[in-house]
Amino acid sequence: MANILSFFFIFFSLCLQGSSTTTFTFQNKCASTVWPGTIAGAGTSQLSTTGFELQSGSSMSLTAPTEWHGGFWGRTFCANDTITGKFTCATGDCASGNISCDGAGGIPPASLIEIKLNGFQGTDFFDISLVDGFNLPVSITPTGVSSCVSSSCAFDINSICPEILKVKDGNGKVVACMSGCLKFNTDKMCCRGKYDSPQTCKPSSYAKMFKKACPQAYSYAYDDTTSTFTCTGANYVITFCP
Ligand SMILES: *[C@@H]1O[C@H](CO)[C@@H](O)[C@H](O)[C@H]1NC(C)=O
Ligand SMILES: *[C@@H]1O[C@H](CO)[C@@H](O)[C@H](O)[C@H]1NC(C)=O
Repeated sequence: MANILSFFFIFFSLCLQGSSTTTFTFQNKCASTVWPGTIAGAGTSQLSTTGFELQSGSSMSLTAPTEWHGGFWGRTFCANDTITGKFTCATGDCASGNISCDGAGGIPPASLIEIKLNGFQGTDFFDISLVDGFNLPVSITPTGVSSCVSSSCAFDINSICPEILKVKDGNGKVVACMSGCLKFNTDKMCCRGKYDSPQTCKPSSYAKMFKKACPQAYSYAYDDTTSTFTCTGANYVITFCP
C-alpha cells in the first residue's frame, strides 16, 4: 500500500512539474566560449542562474516557472581583469563585475531573445530583438510541439556592419554592430515622440539592413508583424551561432 501511494505521489508530482515549468536549453555552436546572461522581467523572479559560462560545443539547461518572462543574451570575449579581478566582457557585459548578472541586463549592442511564458490564453510569445543592435547569431527553437516554428538570426551581421555602427575590440576586430537607434538616439530612429506608433515609425536604412540579414528578428521597435512568434506547451532550445 505504501508503495502504491508513493508511486502515485511521484507520478502526480511529475505531472505537475511537467505542466508548470518550462525548460530552456542553451547550446553554444560558436567557435568560442559564450557567457549567456538571463534577466527576469518586472514582477517575476530571476532564474537559478543569471549568468554562466558555455564553452564551444557545450549545452546547459535551466527551468523557468509558469508565467516567467524575461530575456537571454550571449556575452563574448569575457575575462577577469588582471588588476581589479572584475569579470568583464567585450559585448553584452552586464557590469556586475561577476559572471552572474544579478538582475542587470546586457549593455547593448547584443542580440536579445525575449520570451513570455503562458501569456494570452496560455500562449508563449518569443522573439529575437536587434532593436539595440547585434553581437552574435542566435536562434530560439520550441521543442516537443510539432506545430511551432523557431525564430533564427543565423547571419553574422558584424561582417556587413556599416563603419559608423561598428563596435571594435582593442585589435580592431568587429565584435558587435549598433542599431541606428542606439547610435543616433533620435526619436525617428527609436520610434519615440511623434514617431511612437506603427503608422509614424518607419524602418531606417540601417533597420532595413538588419531586416535583410535577419528577416525573423526585430529590426526596429514596430517591426512586430514579422518578428513575433508563439507556441503553447513547449520547451525551448536557445542556440548561439545556429
Ligand atoms: C573568472 O574568475 C572566476 C572565479 O575565479 C572563474 O570561475 C572564471 O572561470 C574566470 N573567468 C574567466 C573568463 O577567466
Ligand atoms: C560576486 O559574487 C561573489 C560570490 O557570489 C560575491 O561575494 C561578490 O560580492 C560579487 N561581486 C560583485 C561585484 O557583485
